[in-house]
Amino acid sequence: MTDSTGTERNSTGMARRSGDPNWWRQASVYQIYPRSFADADGDGLGDLRGVTAKVPYLAALGIDAVWLSPFYPSPLADGGYDVADYRDVDPRLGTLDDFDRMTQALHAADIKIIVDIVPNHSSDEHPWFREALAAGRGSPARDRYIFRDGLGPDGSRPPSDWVSHFGGSAWTRITEPSGEPGQWYLHLFAKEQPDWNWEHPEVRKDFETTLRFWSDRGVDGFRVDVAHALAKDMSEPLRSKPSVADELTPVDGKDPLFDRDEVHEIYAQWRKVFDEYDPPRSAVAEAWVPAERRPAYASPEGLGQAFNFDLLRADFDRRAFREIITNNLDQAAASGASSTWVLSNHDVVRHATRYGLPPGHDLGQWLMGDGADPEVDYEAGLRRARAATLLILALPGSTYLYQGEELGLFEVADLPAAALQDPIWQRTRRKLKGRDGCRVPLPWTSAGPSFGFGPDGAHLPQPAWFADAAVDVQDGLAESTLEFYRAALRLRRELQGFEELTWADGSADDVLHFVRPGGWHCITNFGRSHVALPAGTCRISSGPLRAGELPPDTTAWLTR
Ligand code: NOJ
Repeated sequence: MTDSTGTERNSTGMARRSGDPNWWRQASVYQIYPRSFADADGDGLGDLRGVTAKVPYLAALGIDAVWLSPFYPSPLADGGYDVADYRDVDPRLGTLDDFDRMTQALHAADIKIIVDIVPNHSSDEHPWFREALAAGRGSPARDRYIFRDGLGPDGSRPPSDWVSHFGGSAWTRITEPSGEPGQWYLHLFAKEQPDWNWEHPEVRKDFETTLRFWSDRGVDGFRVDVAHALAKDMSEPLRSKPSVADELTPVDGKDPLFDRDEVHEIYAQWRKVFDEYDPPRSAVAEAWVPAERRPAYASPEGLGQAFNFDLLRADFDRRAFREIITNNLDQAAASGASSTWVLSNHDVVRHATRYGLPPGHDLGQWLMGDGADPEVDYEAGLRRARAATLLILALPGSTYLYQGEELGLFEVADLPAAALQDPIWQRTRRKLKGRDGCRVPLPWTSAGPSFGFGPDGAHLPQPAWFADAAVDVQDGLAESTLEFYRAALRLRRELQGFEELTWADGSADDVLHFVRPGGWHCITNFGRSHVALPAGTCRISSGPLRAGELPPDTTAWLTR
């Protein structure tokens, strides 16, 4: 049976998994940040052999796909999002053979693989950037990037007031081969991440080659980094844009840097490449754009799906969840895509911590105080995190889970300044610590060097409390967060059917209750008092129930 979206389903509405062109529509995708996942060779950095060794763990977790953050050769100015070679593996992380073995092992376990593609910028160690520096002003090599002369009589002022996402100017001045101070190049992120010029046919062609390279190796899909920034209006005079806050980006597609209408021409071209494969390769856009601009990225003629980050910024609050879910389901329907749901990733404070802080708290500032002021209510944080996870796992669409959240990990908020790697720390002149606290290598065992992350140390210091959160401590323990994730993911596969949701109105004020086809009810209590559960069989709950009642900060799935 095929539904209106073209997804093949069995009689209960379950999607057929392997080989299904629509496998991504309701997939649970587990994000691996490779340098911090598992280290097989003992150099302190996670690697691809580490991932392969953990395939049984991933299979037992019950996820449908992994998304691998960048593993390409990189000087690591931005955790690998500064790519020096798009078609190879960082030697510290392995080889292309290791990649193939990992892909085979994942596929053998019926797990798809999505890789990160970083098309807005390369590393300053990419051969084409080095060539551009050596080739001099006005050369074709420079034209693959965005070089401009500076302002003022001696060109010593940047060409515009544009600022980098990581703080400071978005322009850096180079020294010309002659030794003279020279042109400036654009980098919307760190200065080690020069922006590509997407007007250049060679840049376009090279990325298509990269998409085919990984697709030929069996990759099932792509996560597209900063998908909304590739097309830029570089006509002179460059327009003023002194802030990169995405809420300030106009919705008319005419901003000089972000979300310009022309960007979709690039993705229409990519779609043709994806469709050369059977099944077509999937893609998901990381596009920080206003909600109404998302469907264009998620359209079937474009990338096919776009991240919805609304829940990353929302408090654990019934109204906020209801509004976000409704809006995103509407938008997904408008583009023909399925929605995406995310509570944590490698760029934000882990949600078990976020929900343990006062609503709306400034997390950047909180991190500056080493997470001591205010103190996190860890119990409430984890309780709400589990409730929110169970809620999003019941929604139609794909759920993206971030490594370590299945262990209930909190943010490591007290990393010493000397250990910080995120370019945000230096570029903001140490006013913001950045994102290292959610990138600390995972604890696999309660003892041993680096808590089982590898045979030796870890590239970021792990806190002592990791001993209690380790996989071997939680494995088999009924009430552990790990067993909770395993049970929820297993049950999701069993209950998942058509992409429909009906709100069950009439529930108590602080309760969110919806129903999926087949009588699958999801009920979350966002309030402060216990509420009665409707009739039905409770299949799983995010915390203990009390005599048929749903306690505060708890979600339950019922079937009836
Ligand atoms: C978004 C990625 O998620 C983030 O980690 C990275 O720093 C920027 N894009 C720049 O590539």
